[in-house]
Amino acid sequence: MARFLQHKEEAYWFYRFLSIGYDHYINPWFYTPAMRDAGLTLAELNRQDMEVVDVGAGTGFATEGIVRFVKASHVHALDQSDHQQAKAKKKPLLKGVHFYLGDAERLPWETDRFDRYVSSGSIEYWPEPQRAIAEAYRTLKPGGLATILGPLRPENRIGRFLAETFMLFPTLEEYLLWYKTAGFVDVTYRFIRPEWVTREAYALSIVGRKPAAGASPWKPPTATPAESLAEKTSSRRSRLLFLTRFALGSIAGGLFIPIAIAKTLLRKSTR
Ligand SMILES: C[S@@+](CC[C@H](N)C(=O)[O-])C[C@H]1O[C@@H](n2cnc3c(N)ncnc32)[C@H](O)[C@@H]1O
Repeated sequence: MARFLQHKEEAYWFYRFLSIGYDHYINPWFYTPAMRDAGLTLAELNRQDMEVVDVGAGTGFATEGIVRFVKASHVHALDQSDHQQAKAKKKPLLKGVHFYLGDAERLPWETDRFDRYVSSGSIEYWPEPQRAIAEAYRTLKPGGLATILGPLRPENRIGRFLAETFMLFPTLEEYLLWYKTAGFVDVTYRFIRPEWVTREAYALSIVGRKPAAGASPWKPPTATPAESLAEKTSSRRSRLLFLTRFALGSIAGGLFIPIAIAKTLLRKSTR
């Protein structure tokens, strides 16, 4: 399981380039507005004045779904990619949203801050998902909900090989374990998928409730995340490792695009 892009620096450079065509050419194949909206129903965005954080908000695709229910001035969007965020900042619908550059595994807010935590399509790049989910728990108010939309491990061998070369595609059991270990209760989920996908368990939206004030009962093994974007990989060996991971991960990820196009055409021709 190589997961070449499940690293902060590799993901940063991946989005340096992907951000150019993300909204128009990449995202629509894998993550549709219908999937986003179905996933967000679990977040119970039922008050205009609730404080919501969107982590790994990128170009603001999920944030656009959130501001349909919550005032933009109450929405906080964080991402580690300035290139992705620059696109979000230009969107008229997101005027008033607060933007932050930062790390999902070390959120820049105090404990018990938000009513809702949302993260969509970002977990696959987090080197330590348990740490980030514990951060979701910490920053929520008691009674607050954390909703994560993310991919699931493909069933067929070729899909699984490409997926796991590319990044993290967790199993349902892993999502459930991370949520429960972080301290969440009332954990539920629903599957979501684009039209061209026939298997039900392609991606999910999972939600859990924070039962009490304070930090997560899960204690991280080290005080700071294992990886940080600020730390430059300076040695020749680590530069080479970075370039290899970046190239192989990008190739594996890129191969999903012709697969999605071929499957869509096949479905259309057999209708
Ligand atoms: C597939 S995009 C999803 C963007 C958006 N949420 C959406 O629904 O379209 C993944 C985003 O996660 C961000 N990301 C990856 N690792 C991150 C981390 N450790 N902290 C913050 N953002 C991260 C990337 O920069 C990228 O913008």
